[in-house]
Amino acid sequence: MQLQRLSVSFPGKTVLSDLDLTLEQGSIYALLGGNGAGKSTLLSVLLGFLQPSAGSVRVAGVTPWSDPGRARAQLAYLPENVALYEHLSAVENVDYLLGLSGRRQTGAAIATALADAGLQESAWHQRLAGFSKGMRQKVAIAIALMRQVPLLLLDEPTSGLDPGASADFHALLAPVRARGTAVLMVTHDLLGAADIADRIGVLDQGRIVHESDRNGFDLATLHAHFIGRDRRA
Ligand SMILES: Nc1ncnc2c1ncn2[C@@H]1O[C@H](COP(=O)(O)OP(=O)(O)O)[C@@H](O)[C@H]1O
Ligand SMILES: [Mg+2]
Repeated sequence: MQLQRLSVSFPGKTVLSDLDLTLEQGSIYALLGGNGAGKSTLLSVLLGFLQPSAGSVRVAGVTPWSDPGRARAQLAYLPENVALYEHLSAVENVDYLLGLSGRRQTGAAIATALADAGLQESAWHQRLAGFSKGMRQKVAIAIALMRQVPLLLLDEPTSGLDPGASADFHALLAPVRARGTAVLMVTHDLLGAADIADRIGVLDQGRIVHESDRNGFDLATLHAHFIGRDRRA
């Protein structure tokens, strides 16, 4: 995935300005930003729902706005609130949703994916109606894993999860990375990002104002950028 000098404007307002970002396969990039920083807007551009006002965007070589179907076939997207079928079980959700994208799998493969996604076996045949947010995400991650796409987009995946469930979620990303998938996670969760990401960028008013990689994470500096220039001493 590559962004070059990407800008996005709405009437009277520039939401993303001049973003440059390249994600290597097999790496996790965490983009930190407060409410309104432009995180979801960036994901909408990658999904082909929004046209950039300037710059270029490539998802596995495809321009999402020009060819949204091909771009979306290259990525898996976990929205902040995962939408699944409440009256179907975990296994039925995976089976049905993979079928829709023409990638039906055997029951054994689905069981393996649910186990890899960390969903306890006792829940596999239960309806989703009783699932917590963390359990729903595991079902969605199982689907994403089975699609074997080169890019995984996560919109605030740990918001509303307790620290233990957040840590479990982040731990799931290590094998995803090991398979060569590029992961872009937009988040509020600085500690979680520092735990799992290879690179962290801080988005503030549509610009990446700070970036560091795994060797150079300095939580105090990241935090100061994250809470914003105005509030920094
Ligand atoms: N369709 C739209 N029209 C006008 N402004 C928008 C639209 N979508 C988002 N915005 C504005 O863009 C800014 C960034 O929004 P968003 O990307 O949702 O932020 P984040 O996900 O980081 O909280 C916000 O100020 C928001 O009000
Ligand atoms: Mg958002």
